[in-house]
Amino acid sequence: RAVVAGERDAVAIQATLACLLWETLPQASWCGFYRRVGERTLAVGPYQGTMGCLRIDFERGVCGACARTREIQLVPDVSLFPGHIACDDRTRSELVVPVVSGGELRAVLDLDSHHLDAFDRAEAALLQRLVEDVFADASF
Ligand code: SME
Repeated sequence: RAVVAGERDAVAIQATLACLLWETLPQASWCGFYRRVGERTLAVGPYQGTMGCLRIDFERGVCGACARTREIQLVPDVSLFPGHIACDDRTRSELVVPVVSGGELRAVLDLDSHHLDAFDRAEAALLQRLVEDVFADASF
């Protein structure tokens, strides 16, 4: 929060959070943002890790489910999630947090891991509060 305090540019904040979360969460194999670029489309934004898919439709995958419902998606075993998108076929678990600002779904924060059950509810809640705070006044 201190590092991005006063910054309003959404990409600058996303890039900085991707970097800091990557340094903080050693279980992550991918950490970053998909930005809403159309009515029902996400495009990859700042991230760290293995190469991600470039575009994700709202109807597809864990990120799409998060964008559609605006609810946290905590998936301990992606093989049990119908329609999971395997950008990296070593991915075993995933956490996706919605970024809502000004009443609009602006982006999702996506964390993937090569380990099963790598993220928990406490981390999910903490990340939700973090993105609510740091993007509250951001320009997208
Ligand atoms: N696994 C995600 C796609 C994004 S990447 O893995 C970086 C999904 O199903 O939404």
